[in-house]
Amino acid sequence: MRNLKWGVFLTLTISGAIFGAVVALAQSPASQSPASQTPVSQSPVSQSPVTLQKVKTELANGERLYAQHCADCHGADLQGGLGSNLVDDIWTLAQTNTEIARLIALGDADVGMPEFTDVLSGGEILDVLDYIRNQKPKQKIKAATDADMVGDHLVNTAVWLDGLETPWSMVFLDKSHALITEKTGRLRRVVDGTLRDKPVVGTPAVWNGGQGGLLDLAIDPDYADNGWIYLTFSHPLKPGSDKAMTKLVRGKLTGNVWSDEQVLFEAKPEHYMKGRVHFGSRITFDDEGHVFFSVGERGQKDMAQDVMRPNGKVHRLMRDGSIPKDNPFAQQADAYPSIYSYGNRNPQGLIWTSGVLWETEHGPKGGDELNIIKSGANYGWPVISYGRNYSGTELTPYTHMKGMEQPISQWTPSIAANGLELVSGEMFKEWNGYLLAGALKYKELRLIKIDGKKYISEQILLKGRGRVRDITMGPDGAIYVILNKPGQVLRLTPKRDVK
Ligand code: HEC
Repeated sequence: MRNLKWGVFLTLTISGAIFGAVVALAQSPASQSPASQTPVSQSPVSQSPVTLQKVKTELANGERLYAQHCADCHGADLQGGLGSNLVDDIWTLAQTNTEIARLIALGDADVGMPEFTDVLSGGEILDVLDYIRNQKPKQKIKAATDADMVGDHLVNTAVWLDGLETPWSMVFLDKSHALITEKTGRLRRVVDGTLRDKPVVGTPAVWNGGQGGLLDLAIDPDYADNGWIYLTFSHPLKPGSDKAMTKLVRGKLTGNVWSDEQVLFEAKPEHYMKGRVHFGSRITFDDEGHVFFSVGERGQKDMAQDVMRPNGKVHRLMRDGSIPKDNPFAQQADAYPSIYSYGNRNPQGLIWTSGVLWETEHGPKGGDELNIIKSGANYGWPVISYGRNYSGTELTPYTHMKGMEQPISQWTPSIAANGLELVSGEMFKEWNGYLLAGALKYKELRLIKIDGKKYISEQILLKGRGRVRDITMGPDGAIYVILNKPGQVLRLTPKRDVK
């Protein structure tokens, strides 16, 4: 009889919404490799987005029930007593969430674990389980605030270009040609270090307001052969509309004319929205024919958890805009098939190197993140964060949660991480493989030492010259730093042997 009862309970809860966060967290694609992934249409992520409010309520409920029914035997701190330690990650009677929930319901008379079927409802058992699962000893990621000030004696800084209007991104086409986007919507050409007066003609119309406008710029890895140039921008739903969304196109430059434009990504019209913030975006490529680009959550926090929405995500496409077959949500009805990762707040740094996709994103007040982006992974915004509300009040009590990724490093207070580049080339060969990150707010350029997928340390390379928007390595090996205010490009060269 008992088993029958339990069977009914399981069936009801699995089919019901109550299964909520426990299953969503336990079965999040983050914990699965793409090959072993269960059909994503079964994932409850899209049906029931993990909202902070929901998780908070469930965990608070779990905590209360634990104190009432379990703490006597398992300890107020879950470290054990008469019953076993529940936070040492050693499970002897049950392993999976389903097995543990079943054990709590049915008990085990042989070892002295009582049954709770008549005391707790199915939903309550899942809340307790969720609470236990989230109480593991946590190692917080230390905030990288104590960066050493070492810059001035290491690099020479020269103003390379001046007179730009809110420049956003720069890329070199070859030794003597470069392109720069200005947020206002202009694509500018630079020839032999001189800015051409006339912007490129025929580039897409952008929604220029708040943080939106003409944003990132990148060239195809095979640019020399195919001439493709990629742009992201805030695209107005209709001319004059106040609704906009981040869009990705590619096109070619013929003289001073933008031509052959192809739309690679566009949100569904119903997903365009008002609001002036968090468009992302950055573009980068791997060496397997993919293009990655990021879209901020547009100030709609919970949408970052919803894979039926394009915002708060890193996307992946083939370079011609088609969907890679192994994209994590490609088979899930109603999901954006281009989504590669979710739970991202406002990613404005993205670079691929040696098989690793590095990303930086703005936190709210504190909690800017350096992440490694993985297929199908959930980066947790807004359920977990090291940041607080802008008002200083608590945004979420959680920095960790099962099924959600930890940053590789985080910045509290926020530096306003913007732009990410990999040091390469002869000129700065001592720093090859390091990352360069812009700190918009602190008017700094940070040099981040990494080792494989590990964060080691960081230094401030440049300070007080302006708001750093983007960084690019030049074909000459120098570091070019794009300042959105004043509208300049700086050129950094080594002062002496860098160590
Ligand atoms: C009367 C004491 C008592 C109470 C109350 C009690 N437990 Fe237990 N529990 C035990 C004992 C004893 C064991 C077995 C310990 C062992 O095998 O070393 C156990 C085992 C467990 C296990 C299995 C651990 C493993 O390693 O596999 C879980 C999970 C568990 N309890 C959860 C709970 C939860 C949740 C509650 C409250 C709803 C609860 N218990 C209430 C005594 C209790």
